[in-house]
This record gives sequence, structure tokens and C-alpha cells, in this order.
Amino acid sequence: MAQEKIVCMRCEDELEAGRYRCRCGALGEVRHDLESMNGEGLLAGFQGRRGARSGVEASGVWRFRELIMPRVKMHQIVTRREGNTRIYRPPALVKYLGLGKLSIKHEGENPTGSFKDRGMTVGVTRAVHEGARAIACASTGNTSASLAAYGAAAGLPAVVFVPAGKIARAKLAQTVAYGAKVVEIDGNFDDAMNMVVKVCRELDMALLNSVNPWRIEGQKSIIFELLDDLDWQVPDWIVFPAGNLGNTSAFGKALRELYELGLLERMPKLVAVQAEGASPFFKFYQERLENPRAELVAEANPETVATAIRIGNPQSWEKAIREINATKGMVLSVTDQEIMEAKLQIDGAGIGCEPASAASIAGIHQLIKRGIIGSKDHAVAILTGHFLKDVESALNWHEQNGASHNRIRVSADFDAIAKALDKGLA
Ligand code: F0G
Repeated sequence: MAQEKIVCMRCEDELEAGRYRCRCGALGEVRHDLESMNGEGLLAGFQGRRGARSGVEASGVWRFRELIMPRVKMHQIVTRREGNTRIYRPPALVKYLGLGKLSIKHEGENPTGSFKDRGMTVGVTRAVHEGARAIACASTGNTSASLAAYGAAAGLPAVVFVPAGKIARAKLAQTVAYGAKVVEIDGNFDDAMNMVVKVCRELDMALLNSVNPWRIEGQKSIIFELLDDLDWQVPDWIVFPAGNLGNTSAFGKALRELYELGLLERMPKLVAVQAEGASPFFKFYQERLENPRAELVAEANPETVATAIRIGNPQSWEKAIREINATKGMVLSVTDQEIMEAKLQIDGAGIGCEPASAASIAGIHQLIKRGIIGSKDHAVAILTGHFLKDVESALNWHEQNGASHNRIRVSADFDAIAKALDKGLA
């Protein structure tokens, strides 16, 4: 079986076990021995596992394990049968966007309600393999909920660092209830991120943010499963929200590996969508078009309604720019207004998502208006988190924008109800 190594993404030096950042400052990544693999054989294997209903093959991550963690010991796998998320094609949204073909993959349908479970099952499995005594992360809420759940499943103590008062309450509730220790930092996500790196190093805990290359390996399965859902017919665009840039890095790596294995006839374009108030990667991408040596400038005070992507100093920027370039993709910025209008459409189709996720539909909307996505194109939107992750934002939006007509308060009296409904439905 192929041996995987962790090498620096910039200088290719091999990193020692347990190290995620090279001396040169760049992040490490898992390098698979693709040359020893047979693409067609792998594909047949993946397809043969499609219907598995039990065991690790029922996981939409571990079904693809040859391209994720080939040497995994099966008894060490910590899985909640993550993945297996649905594809939606709501006619109302297709009409709203005026698009030929739209596929929405809802990663909010994972066990803890976000795509993070796909990376976490792999990261925590690796932590178990390495004999970690505790696991930790910094988070805007979803990673922490996922870490807490997988820590509980593995029987490992979990510690999370979150920006105090700045994460959606449902995510905090999940994290606390699943038994993680929550350290609320007076500061933002980037401050929490800086602290957790130090804490993990000094206090000997396994770092489970997406700087951990095994998290990225797990998140690649979004692409593997998406292509499998589409019977390996490559879409034109894959559009998704971007914060710390783990997904951008994972999606591009997955596509490059599949391409190298001869399993893709062409590359889809990746589109990373940032919220305008927290868009250092968007600004960096614009700058790079003029100056290839430009580096990312962190934002000190990121702000957006999409708290999940309220990040000023994305850790994986260097990997992410490589993947945007490799797929000839794009980086966009959308306003909070555009995000919430897109969310209204997704919610109204009866599907729903948390605000950050709606950035994907807002991004497609923007590219159609700019004439970049054509009306015959097939665009995929990745919804990253479940509607119930952030109910306050939905209720606040409806209240502030006069859409509260969906709610009527009336006495328990038939005539009054009939009258109110008659008015309401008119
Ligand atoms: N969407 C949601 C719902 C998220 O929770 C996140 C990241 C993203 C998109 C952005 O993904 O970081 O890979 O670019 N949430 C992290 C967290 C930061 O702590 O839960 P990315």
C-alpha cells in the first residue's frame, strides 16, 4: 500500500511527525504516492462501496480512504458515518438565478450540522493513532462543535478556543453539551487561533484546526462524493464560502489528485466567496493579478453577519491561491445584504442554511450578473452549515425587513383565525 508523507507545500521538505508547519513558514500537506495507484481500479472500488449501510464504508469520507489516509488501521477509525449529504435542485432557485443547471450539495446534513465532520473524523482518527492525550482547536463555532462530538466519540478530552460573544449560540450549546472545555477569548477568531497553536505546543495537545493536514484530507471527500453524486460528470463551477481557506485548499488538492489519476476529463473552476467585511483573501487575489509576489495582508477587525467566516488572517492562504490558480478559478466578495438575500431564497425553498453558507448562492448570483457564469453552465453550490446553526440571524432578518408577515398572533378563536388567514393569504 502506498506510503503517505507530510511535506512542506512550498519547499517540499519532509516534516517530522506531529509538525504541521515547515521551518520556511509554509504549511505541510499529505503527499500520496499517486504513481503507484490505478485510477480506474480506485474508481471501481469507490463505486462498489456506494450502497454500504454499515461499517466504515458507510461513511462518505472513509469510502474514499485510499486517497485520504491509505494506511489507516481500521479499528482506530472514529466515524459517525459522516458525509452522504444530499444534492438539491430546487426549481425556485434555478429560476431565481436563471441558470441552466444548479446542484446544491448540503454539507449541513453531516452529524453535527456542518462539513467540519468530514475533516474531523480524519483528524481525530490520526490523533488516536498518534496517541494524543487531548485535542484542541480555535473556532468560529462549527469546528468546535465537531471537535467536541468526535472527542466524545473517541473518549479524548477536547478544548476549544472561541471569540467570546461572537459565535452563534447553537454552536456554543453543541460544544458545551458534547462535553468540550470552552475557553472564551476576549478577541476574535484570529486571536483564538494564535493562542491555540501555542497552547497545543506547550501543553502537548493535538491541534485539530485545518492547519492539520489530515483535516484537509478529510474535507477532500466533499469533492469525491460530489463527483460520485454527479456520476463523475464534471460541473463547470464549484462555488463555496471561504474563511480560513481549508476548504479551498482541500477542494483543489482533491481535484488535482483526481486529474493526475486520469479520473477527470477537465478541471471545474473553484470559486471561493468571502464576506466583504472579512475579505483579506479576496483583496490578496485582486492584488496578485497585478503583482505575483504580493502577500496576504491580515484584516485586524473582520466583521460580517456570517460569523462562521468572520476571519481576518486565514491560515491556508498559500495553499488556497495555488488551488484557485490550478483550477483557473476566482475569489469573490459579497456584501452581508447579498448573503442574506441569497439565504432568504435558500430558506424559502425549504432547504435552509446558516448565513455563511448562503455566500455560495450569492457568489453564483454575482457571477451570472457579471456574465461570467453562462446560462447553460452547470454550477455547484456547497452549503456548509445547517439552518439551525444560527436561528437568530434568520429571525432578526425577518423582523427587521418586514418579512414578519409570516407570523400572525391571534387569540384562540376560530373566527379571528379565519379572518387573519384570509388577510394573510390574500
Ligand atoms: N462555512 C461554514 C459554515 C464554516 O463554519 C466555515 C468555517 C466556513 C464556511 C469556511 O471554511 O475556513 O475552510 O474557508 N468555519 C471554521 C470554524 C473557521 O471554526 O468553524 P474555511
